[in-house]
Amino acid sequence: MQWALFNLDGLLFLLRWGHFIFGIAWIGMLWYFNFVQGPFFAKADAATKTEATKGLVPKALFYFRYGAMGTFFTGWIIIAIKFGQAGPAGSALFNSSWAATILTGAIMGSVMWFNVWFVIWPRQKKVIASANGEKVENLPALARRAFLASRTNTLLSVPLLFFMGAASHLTIRVDEGRVGLWLLIVLVLVGLIEANALLADKGPTTKPIEKVSGVIHYGLLLAVVFYVLSEVILHH
Ligand code: HEM
Repeated sequence: MQWALFNLDGLLFLLRWGHFIFGIAWIGMLWYFNFVQGPFFAKADAATKTEATKGLVPKALFYFRYGAMGTFFTGWIIIAIKFGQAGPAGSALFNSSWAATILTGAIMGSVMWFNVWFVIWPRQKKVIASANGEKVENLPALARRAFLASRTNTLLSVPLLFFMGAASHLTIRVDEGRVGLWLLIVLVLVGLIEANALLADKGPTTKPIEKVSGVIHYGLLLAVVFYVLSEVILHH
């Protein structure tokens, strides 16, 4: 059959389509929480907050966490198929601009997925339980950690989308053997940003992400820093 969708490339395309749909649901909700709901909650009275936490937040969190799951799996399946297709040319593919950029985005996105499912969601469940009248210990600390993880995801979403889009639409010169080093540096830098989300409470490292304007500006700055570093590291 000559139809475009009925072959492996068609399957890859369908996975990409699913990837955008899940990705939009996820990052759309993430930005809604950070840019819309957070500032509203900061000014709302206690009764309004409780009502919204019971009636609105659970539904938003449903699309948020399953969006994250779908984005994560479709993304890694595409990467696995691409390397599978490359076969013995896998190492040439790894040493390409495509792999350097998509794996940079994938590292950021995977840390963000971890934050959704293992940091934000377990704590948000307790916030919802408390709004429903259950007694929850340490609620402010739990909510603060979920907030910092959510802000960190918002921060990372900006460079993530830069590198995700760059994979097929921006070619960075890559010298032999540099991609491994580059990805190691990405892992360390993203690891430090994640350590800040998981361990810090208040201070100079959390200050840049406390406010909406801060997280947008620092997200853009981070994209520039990662891009400049990628040009410096990926070729001599
Ligand atoms: C969670 C980890 C993620 C992985 C492993 C991943 C992986 C991928 C892969 C393999 C592609 C295909 C690249 C190509 O066609 O050359 C892609 C494209 C894309 N991804 Fe992701 N992704 C992740 C997260 C995200 C997130 C959170 C978003 C946010 C919406 C996103 C948005 C996109 C977009 C817009 C493209 C299209 C790029 C293009 O071809 O123009 N991805 N991603």
